Amino acid sequence: MVTEPLTTRPVLRDKFGRVVHKLRISLTDRCNFRCVYCMPEDAEFLPHEELLTADEIVRVAGLFAEMGADTIRLTGGEPLMRPDVVDITRRLKQLAGVHRVSMTTNGFMLPRLAAPLVEAGLDGVNVSLDTLDPVRFQVLARRRYLKEVLAGIQAAEAAGLTPVKINTVVMRGVNDSEIGEFLLWARDTGHVVRFIEFMPLDADNIWQRQTVVTLAEILEVARTIGPVDEVGEDKASPARLYRFRDGRGTFGVIASVSEPFCADCDRVRLTAEGRIRNCLFATDETDLRALLRGGADDEALVERMRDAVAEKWAGHLIAQPGFVKPERTMHRIGG
Ligand code: 5AD
Ligand code: SF4
Repeated sequence: MVTEPLTTRPVLRDKFGRVVHKLRISLTDRCNFRCVYCMPEDAEFLPHEELLTADEIVRVAGLFAEMGADTIRLTGGEPLMRPDVVDITRRLKQLAGVHRVSMTTNGFMLPRLAAPLVEAGLDGVNVSLDTLDPVRFQVLARRRYLKEVLAGIQAAEAAGLTPVKINTVVMRGVNDSEIGEFLLWARDTGHVVRFIEFMPLDADNIWQRQTVVTLAEILEVARTIGPVDEVGEDKASPARLYRFRDGRGTFGVIASVSEPFCADCDRVRLTAEGRIRNCLFATDETDLRALLRGGADDEALVERMRDAVAEKWAGHLIAQPGFVKPERTMHRIGG
């Protein structure tokens, strides 16, 4: 059942009846890492003037919130590269109708920023970490920052952002041998590791169907550690959640490829340069920036937003022959 939020404007609904509750805002396409599944080594970034300003972001988010988007996630690129991230977090959290503001980050800057972000109202953090091995880290992220990321995770925990969620993209032949280690680590630390099936959003065309490690395979590894029970859906994400029966260790699997959750999708994305993207795999986007900078009133923006949402597809077709990979890579979409 889709619950209807209390809103000051009619809710945003697509033509399949799905209602938008979650808004993902990419604050920048820049990143200080170069994860192989997300961007090329020589990525070109948008000039600063093409990024939405804090005022523009807050205005658009406020309209989304008036139409029922009550949960905001800040993404990138790397959202903490944005100098005004704490201020933006504070302003978004104060918007009427916004209940929760969280962030997906590579963690590098959390030692410095976790505490101020919590003070500004940040409710949760997902830290991307695909390997616990420093050599492999350098291959995957093309940077030697494992220590810094682990320090960032600790800082998030110390600042009260618990449980810290860890996003781990699993790629066959790259880091799938570490699933067990990640689970043991989750059991030791209390972090919730969420294994993400590798999606075709990379720059270097390394994605292949066979590189996807599926939900079923991940569960098989988990069961070698101990009995596992499904604990239902994580309401805040598309992860399916599992717990070891002895009570130590919760983990999730985001099975975007093998078990797509498009039918329940309640999210929409705003890219760093101000376009609405109604699906990760959409081939079209709707520009809001020209309206924002051309002096459009709220009604004009709302109409454009409604049209963008209405056109959302039933779902992605990764599993089908003839699937077309989107041109944008992940860092330009905003995970
Ligand atoms: N497939 C799956 N997940 C990805 N992410 C980035 N690129 C991909 C991909 N090709 C993840 C990052 C981050 C989140 C925003 O999306 O690891 O945790
Ligand atoms: Fe940066 Fe995140 Fe992309 Fe890695 S996945 S390159 S940390 S934006």
